[in-house]
Amino acid sequence: MNAVHEPEELLTIGEMSRRTGVAPSALRYYEQLGLVGSVRTVGNQRRYPRHMLRRVSLISVAKRLGMPLRDVKEAFGDVPMESTPSHDDWQRASRRWKRRLEERRRAIERLENELTGCIGCGCLSLKACALLNPDDALAETGAGPRRLQDLPGADEL
Ligand code: FES
Repeated sequence: MNAVHEPEELLTIGEMSRRTGVAPSALRYYEQLGLVGSVRTVGNQRRYPRHMLRRVSLISVAKRLGMPLRDVKEAFGDVPMESTPSHDDWQRASRRWKRRLEERRRAIERLENELTGCIGCGCLSLKACALLNPDDALAETGAGPRRLQDLPGADEL
């Protein structure tokens, strides 16, 4: 990030951690992933623009909802990191966020239905069981007992 910020707008990693409840190591990791951004002091210390508080808080919420960080990144989309995002920036992010959550909800519902059926069935058939072998994906990897062949040490059997 190259934007110019007033010093009072900037938070140290410790301040950011205290304000959001997110560990400094996690903040550094989020930065590595491009989910948040910081500027550096002359002494090469991180400083977070105040508007990053919102991003970090939203990441925490997403984690509680079980949302993968790549989905969070996608939901943030074009929300700027260099400057304070506008209301419209967050509105667009909100719509993307909602779409991702709806997709997740539908996927969980599908999984729930399949799991309920499988608990009642118990056949564990690699051919028929959608939970063990969704869309018969293992068939594409070749013939034979694919799962057993993938186990560590399976070639010694
Ligand atoms: S356990 Fe029988 S279909 Fe999944």
